[in-house]
Amino acid sequence: MHPIDNEHLPTDVKQRIEEILAKHKITTDSIVNNPITNNFIDAKPSQSTTSSFVGKEIKLDPSKTIMSKTDKKGIIEYANEYFMETSGYEEYELMGQPHNIIRHPDMPKVIFKELWTRLNKGENIHALVKNLTKNGNYYWVLTSFETKYNEDGEIISHYARRKAAPGNAVYQVEKLYKTLLAIEKTQSVAVSERYFVGLLEEKGMNYDEFILDILGIDQNSIASYFINENDKTSTPKRRGVFGRLFSN
Ligand SMILES: Cc1cc2nc3c(=O)[nH]c(=O)nc-3n(C[C@H](O)[C@H](O)[C@H](O)COP(=O)(O)O)c2cc1C
Repeated sequence: MHPIDNEHLPTDVKQRIEEILAKHKITTDSIVNNPITNNFIDAKPSQSTTSSFVGKEIKLDPSKTIMSKTDKKGIIEYANEYFMETSGYEEYELMGQPHNIIRHPDMPKVIFKELWTRLNKGENIHALVKNLTKNGNYYWVLTSFETKYNEDGEIISHYARRKAAPGNAVYQVEKLYKTLLAIEKTQSVAVSERYFVGLLEEKGMNYDEFILDILGIDQNSIASYFINENDKTSTPKRRGVFGRLFSN
């Protein structure tokens, strides 16, 4: 779909616009990705396929880990210091809140659908996620999850660890997320999911394999991505359940 709605214009006017854009070597992409024109395009939210959020990217320290613990429904029960530092929230603002407090509107719903399908089965997922800070900036992370059960085999908590996502991986996944989001905004999550499944089928991969492929990491090396000898944030001061969960 053309990102700029000019269907209602007369053909000669449309042609003239195309000529001007071509003359000045302006692509529709550059208009959509431009914070100023982007806001104009977003003036019609129901038809918009792009976000009106134009915050700055926060560069994460690759040696640090952002951690959080939630109940089985994703209500935050703990967040480490680096979580607070990157998100801009204080502990008292996060505890008891749903984890979507840091959800960025550029994230397609279908990615979180996949995330919850996995978590509800107690499975891990290595997702690339764009998170929103309190003041409207953003940062990209690669995730890793662990689920804990009670004695009756019921899920009681989820633990999330996140590392800085490499820039080249973000660049590639951003293109896919933009497409998924545009489908969700103009059609539905079901259509976006079918597209997503189709794409993965074509590649013969599941979502994690696709992400690892983009990252250039194999399944056996991904665990080491989340281990860092110098990472003070993942070295528990006290030994205990939480310490063991986050120690590697
Ligand atoms: C342990 C845990 C960590 C999560 N971390 C994030 C996160 O970093 N960013 C995010 O947007 N959603 C995260 N989620 C998913 C959110 O709960 C939520 O599903 C997501 O933000 C989408 O919001 P929505 O479900 O209201 O559409 C996490 C969930 C769990 C259980």
